[in-house]
Amino acid sequence: MEGRQTRVLCFANNKGGSGKTTTCSNIGYALASMGYRVLMVDGDMQLNLSLAFFSEEEVLAMAQSEKNLYYAVKNQRDLIDYIVHTPYEGLDLIPSSTLMSGIEYELFTKWQRELILQKGLKTIRAQGEYDYVLIDSPPTLGGWVLNILCASDGIMIPVEASPWGLFGLANMFEFLEEVREMTPQLKLLGVAITKVDTRKNYFRQTLDTLHEMSEVPVFDSYIRVDSTVEWAQDESKPVLAYRRNSRSAQEYLTMTKEVLQRWQ
Ligand SMILES: Nc1ncnc2c1ncn2[C@@H]1O[C@H](COP(=O)(O)OP(=O)(O)OP(=O)(O)O)[C@@H](O)[C@H]1O
Ligand SMILES: [Mg+2]
Repeated sequence: MEGRQTRVLCFANNKGGSGKTTTCSNIGYALASMGYRVLMVDGDMQLNLSLAFFSEEEVLAMAQSEKNLYYAVKNQRDLIDYIVHTPYEGLDLIPSSTLMSGIEYELFTKWQRELILQKGLKTIRAQGEYDYVLIDSPPTLGGWVLNILCASDGIMIPVEASPWGLFGLANMFEFLEEVREMTPQLKLLGVAITKVDTRKNYFRQTLDTLHEMSEVPVFDSYIRVDSTVEWAQDESKPVLAYRRNSRSAQEYLTMTKEVLQRWQ
């Protein structure tokens, strides 16, 4: 037993396509490359976090097996038995399944249904094998995302620099407020702006609007639009593994350092 203190960080925002999975996968890889031991949990039926590290065939095979998050949650199992190793040192994953689309229904009849994921992570926390557990959420707000929030110590909210991106953010904050009593441990690390097009003035306006919301911590680092991110995903690799010297790889390294600072 190594006795590390395991910190659980989730990436959530009900706005779709805001960069949750890209941010989760790249921060996960960056942390592992810094020598931390990282477990990522794919909480979304879209399987995108799993696809960030494995080929489509591998992801579909895991989704069709019974060794994925859906069965772990549905049968209230210990998540330690659902871990697979990625090709990278110190970086593991609990894969998802398309069946996660029905997880709300499965949760509905369960005792203390908002705590299933938290309980499933108990052994992993107690064992102290990982420094960080990163959970990728689907673009929804409901019983499953509440499970993710109850299981986490911290939350990071990736936001796309667009008008609708900020509209979605207000809903996210309302939800966090509504469940505050059930999630007193949850630290809001901050809102992280992704997919920034610095050629567009709109980005500046997004920043100004966010800074006006004084109760909202905003990451200093942000991620610019870069097709390298997409090419890397096309090869099922995090951008740091695909092209370490690319701009977005360096931006994700900087953001990861800010995550570590903000958690102190
Ligand atoms: N910095 C970037 N530059 C270019 N494209 C990006 C960047 N970040 C993310 N994308 C692309 O934007 C899309 C949405 O990103 P991502 O899947 O990470 O968002 P998401 O919030 O997880 O979406 P969902 O809500 O569907 O789960 C993806 O196609 C991804 O490839
Ligand atoms: Mg996603």
